[in-house]
Order: sequence, then C-alpha cells, then structure tokens
Amino acid sequence: MARWWVCGLLSLLAVAAAAEGNAEPLIRLPTQKGRDATAAPAPAPAAAEEEGVTRWAVLVAGSRGYGNYRHQADVCHAYQILKRGGVKEENIVVFMYDDIAENHLNPRPGVIINNPKGKDVYAGVPKDYTGDQVTTKNFFAVLMGNKTAVTGGSRKVINSKSQDHIFIYYSDHGGPGVLGMPNMPYLYAGDFIKVLREKHASKSYSKMVIYVEACESGSIFEGLMPEDLNIYVTTAANANEDSYGTYCPGTNPSPPPEYNTCLGDAYSVSWMEDSETHNLKKETIKDQYKVVKKRTSGSDRVNRGSHVMEYGDKTFKDEKLFLYQGFDPANANINNRLLLPDLEGAINQRDADVLFMWKRYEQLSEGSEEKLTALREIKETVLHRKHLDSSIDFIGKLLFGFVNGPSMLEAPRSSGQPLVDDWDCLKRMVRVFESHCGSLTQYGMKHMRAFANICNNGVSEAGMKEASISACGGHNSAKWSPLALGHSA
Ligand SMILES: *[C@@H]1O[C@H](CO)[C@@H](O)[C@H](O)[C@H]1NC(C)=O
Repeated sequence: MARWWVCGLLSLLAVAAAAEGNAEPLIRLPTQKGRDATAAPAPAPAAAEEEGVTRWAVLVAGSRGYGNYRHQADVCHAYQILKRGGVKEENIVVFMYDDIAENHLNPRPGVIINNPKGKDVYAGVPKDYTGDQVTTKNFFAVLMGNKTAVTGGSRKVINSKSQDHIFIYYSDHGGPGVLGMPNMPYLYAGDFIKVLREKHASKSYSKMVIYVEACESGSIFEGLMPEDLNIYVTTAANANEDSYGTYCPGTNPSPPPEYNTCLGDAYSVSWMEDSETHNLKKETIKDQYKVVKKRTSGSDRVNRGSHVMEYGDKTFKDEKLFLYQGFDPANANINNRLLLPDLEGAINQRDADVLFMWKRYEQLSEGSEEKLTALREIKETVLHRKHLDSSIDFIGKLLFGFVNGPSMLEAPRSSGQPLVDDWDCLKRMVRVFESHCGSLTQYGMKHMRAFANICNNGVSEAGMKEASISACGGHNSAKWSPLALGHSA
C-alpha cells in the first residue's frame, strides 16, 4: 500500500510540544575527569588510540516534537553504537531536544527505540545540550572546542588535538542549503562550511567523517565542500530531493501497533544497522557508503528512496570504520556477512509529520475534545503550508513574471555549483519573507531554493519586501508569526 508522501513539514507539533511544558532540564553532566583536555595527555585507551589518536563525535538531532520521534531515536542509537565501540562518553557530545522519552504520547515511557524490534537506545545517553540549548551557535562552538562561546548545557566541547579523528552525525529536516534546528535560527550551509574551514585552520584534527540525514542534504555540500580539509562527507539525499523516514505506520516493517510515528530514517538506520552487524576493524568507509547507498535508494521500488551522496576528501575511504565509530568486540567474528533487507516503504520527511498527526487523530476517541483539537491542528498546519506555497509562487510571479516565475524559483543550478553565492542575501530574503508572510516552519525549508534564486537573480531587498507585502499583506496568523516562533535566518 504505497502511500506516497512528499518531504515537508510543520512546526505546529513543535509549538504544541513546547507549550506543553516538557520542562525537564535534567542536565546530567558528563563524567569529566579530563575536563581541561589541554592539561595532561589522556592515557591511551584501546584500539585506534594505539597511535595516540582520540576519537571524538558530535551527534545532533535537529528537531523536536513527538511527530519527529525518529530524529532523536537515530541520534540516541548512534550514541549507543559509538559507546559500545569504545568511544568515551567524555568525547561524544550529544544535542537532542529530549522531549521524546517522557512525552505523554510515548507508549513506552522512558524508552526510545529506533527499530520495530529494537531495544531501548535512550538509557545512558548524555544530556549535553537539550531543550533550548540545541542551537546552531552551540553546535558550532562545540565543534570549534570553544567553551566560552557555549551557552548552557554540559559545556562539553570537542577539545581535539591535531592527530585526532572526529565523527559528526546529524539527523533532521532540511531544505536547500539549510538544516533544521529545534531553536531558531536554522543552520545554513555557508556558515557550516566556514566553521569547518576554521576547524581545519586550527589544526585540531587529522581527519573527519560527517554523515548527514535531511531532505536536500546534498545541497549543504554541493559546490561548497572543499576537498583539502581532510573531511569526508556522505548525505542521505542529493541536493534536490527528499530524504525518507522509515519504520513508519503503514510501511514494512512497521513499528509496533502502539506507535503512530516513524521510528527511524532510511539513511540513518542503514548506516547504523550496518555498523552493528559488521566488524568495523575490517569494514571500510567506502564499504559502508556502498551498502548505505544501495539500501537507502530503495532501488527496486520507484520513487521510494533518495540518492546517498559523498563530498569532500575521498582519499581516505579505504580506512576502516573503527577509526571513527569505534569497535565493538562482540562484532569481532561477524565477518561482514549480513546483507540487510530492503526498507519497504519510506515516508518523505515532510509528510512523516502529517502522517503522525493523522494517525493520532484516527486513534483518538470519537467526539472527544482532544480529537477536535487534533483535527484543528491538522487543518491549521495544512492551511499554513498552502499559504506558504502559494505566497512564494505569487512572489515569484511578481518578481519574474507570470510565465517565468515558477521556473525561475525552482531552477536548480548545475551540479558542482553552490545553491547561492551570497548566503547573507539568502538570510535577508528569508527574514523579509517571514516578516510579512509568517514563519517558514520546517515544511517551508523546502522553499529555500526560491529565496536563493531570488538572490542569484539580483533582486534587491526592497524589491523582495514589496513583493512579500503584495503577496501576504492582510494575511494575519499570529500563530505562525516569527515574533513568536523566531526567524529562521
Ligand atoms: C571563542 O568564543 C568567544 C565568544 O564568542 C570569542 O570571543 C573567542 O574569540 C573564541 N575563541 C577562539 C579561540 O576562537
């Protein structure tokens, strides 16, 4: 029953979740013996550190709300893999909103699973940066190892040395040139690449591997990622397509019946289930890329998957994965056998949220207040999406003419070119739009290419303002006001 949904979605759940007071800032400080890592050199632990290499990791779930269960589930799962692999807790920094385990909608309180048959992946995950500490600014500060620049949280940072390895894994919604964050503003590709360049210039790692799950995740690196930073990147999708949630209600396999939300994402569970079933001292980065690419593509099904891409420095792909993800002795004799089953059915990130809202609506009892509220939320969400789509279309027509408008906004640049040349222009256009038309929300990230093309075609800020007022003047929806939700840029 191929339900086919398209990538895009909603901050309504986020707003609802925030309003419901998941206030639970149980910040557990990491066990921090070597807090000042510039002091005595840490005693060499196991494995990769034979050569004095320390493995570091940053794990980021960029969303919040129960409808986005899967992103935090992915990140918790990744933590468990690294931990079992011997990467030390003090070297792994976790960003997650942390509103899932104790969410009143969670059928298994205190537990998060990332596979229909999976065990709990939540226990033991360090709460380094949770709630309103999950920000782009903190992520950059952590990566740079700059404690002074961090706001709140455990203040754990990547205090890496020149010989060290860094693994970054991110899972969330995205759009052309942008990755979501549960707190505004979003993470823009131009800024991310700049931070990676600075990290390289600070000579505080030898090699880095980055895995990114998000819609249009390829656009974060396409035409932007230098090849001389010793950083190898793979993304769930190319620059122009959705990425997919999996283990969703109605897909095969589907979550246990009490779950009305997706448990994972296709690319993410593909790399993690691969890592868990292989000897990572034998499997190479390249091997994993191939397996994940095949499994994520949903090759034998039409339109059911995305194209996993690689960027950056491809010269060290023959290195073994344990150098980044660690090595679990329990997998020593697995000998790279298991070929994982295809993921049958996947739900585009943007529609996974609406799927969740509908599933929840269907489960609520007839005539209840809750059911009415759920219906109203679905309606408001769908209406706001339509409003965003139509006002951007309208602006395109005003700026480029009735005939050319839509194609000018949608035109992808040729491969190897970045989404936009002037990232500050992109942010300005987003702010102008949001001021007059309301918050883009997670769903609206899909329109980033339109704003980028408005910049690429030299439209002025004044021109954009005029068009936005024409398109959205009189539109009034306090609920979606960026004054309440924050600006995405
Ligand atoms: C760390 O961040 C602070 C505050 O943003 C900044 O002033 C300082 O220059 C940064 N330090 C380094 C080494 O980049």
